[in-house]
Amino acid sequence: MTLFTEYPDTELRYLPRAAVIECCAEIDLPAVVEDALVRHGSGQTILPEEAYLGWRTSSGAAARALAMPGALRDGDTLTLGLKTINASLGNPALGLARSQGLLMMFDPDIAWPRTIMESAYLSAMRTAAVTAVSARLLGRPGPSRAAVIGCGTLAKAHLALLPVENVVLYDLDPARARALADTVADDLDVSVAGDAESCVRDRDLVITVTTVTEGWLPMSWLAPGTLVAHVSLDDVLPDVVTGADLVVVDDWDLVSQDPRRLLGRMYRSGDLLAPDRSPRPGVTAREGARPVDTTLGALLTGAHPGRAHPDDVVLSNPFGMSVLDIALGRAVEDVALRNDAGLRLPM
Ligand SMILES: NC(=O)c1ccc[n+]([C@@H]2O[C@H](COP(=O)([O-])OP(=O)(O)OC[C@H]3O[C@@H](n4cnc5c(N)ncnc54)[C@H](O)[C@@H]3O)[C@@H](O)[C@H]2O)c1
Repeated sequence: MTLFTEYPDTELRYLPRAAVIECCAEIDLPAVVEDALVRHGSGQTILPEEAYLGWRTSSGAAARALAMPGALRDGDTLTLGLKTINASLGNPALGLARSQGLLMMFDPDIAWPRTIMESAYLSAMRTAAVTAVSARLLGRPGPSRAAVIGCGTLAKAHLALLPVENVVLYDLDPARARALADTVADDLDVSVAGDAESCVRDRDLVITVTTVTEGWLPMSWLAPGTLVAHVSLDDVLPDVVTGADLVVVDDWDLVSQDPRRLLGRMYRSGDLLAPDRSPRPGVTAREGARPVDTTLGALLTGAHPGRAHPDDVVLSNPFGMSVLDIALGRAVEDVALRNDAGLRLPM
């Protein structure tokens, strides 16, 4: 008896990192991300809560796996996928990148997986693309005087995508900051700061891409008009959240559902309110609590006017949305199909 005859000999396209990078060279990454943010802001996405699996490696390092499904609608067409991105804080000591993952794209009609691609590169570039869009929407006009705190993979992605005039780098590990400065020195006016405060002071764009779980960046270090791209989500101290003139997120549900990161914790303690100014159900708002003001999607669709004054300090806290990876995954798939890139694997 032959089993599983309802499974014909189909193929799956696999795109290793090199193929993803080649495909991305043909894509305007910030434009794809911006389009997906607009779709999200106008209700044309499905963004389920993400699953978080945390554990300790055999050497005691904190590790986690995230499963991030999502879908985007374009008329009658659905683009669907699932990103997994795993990370161990012990990897850099082993000479390995902190994170690695896969993005799976689904066939909308029969639901089966259609393409799998390496997702660490795409994930880093989508995150930098979100910062590029935020800087255009919320930053001072023209190229930025940027500070980048944390000089790992995400820092590289940001320097590859952002139109910065000059940049100061800082990393707890000075060798990492120096190495990144050497890598970009031909293209950028770059210097390395000896401490976090001198890195941040007088910068108009501050990008945090560290791995901290406790805040260290106070409001008093920020110059008027600064945009803080709080990519690593736990760097600013609560007074930056309460004192910023504008607080922007990518998705309030994702931010508020998460109990680990600063904004989710402040929502739980009553120090942060939802965009409709309500406290978390069952929580009493504390004195001085402020609401999250808006989302990147609402800024892009014109539903929120954005920064009110050039001297406003703006905090952008992008939790990281699967639908952006999936929109980029779709663009990569299109290029890969055109160029017959990657490997075709039997299912
Ligand atoms: N919000 C999002 O959408 C999103 C997406 C992807 C990654 N991230 C976050 O971005 C962060 C960076 O990711 P990565 O892949 O570049 O990590 P990485 O390990 O490659 O680099 C992190 C760097 O930060 C440095 N660092 C740690 N603590 C520091 C401190 N207190 N001051 C200065 N430097 C410090 C480390 O030495 C390291 O060089 C992670 O926290 C990750 O979770 C956020």
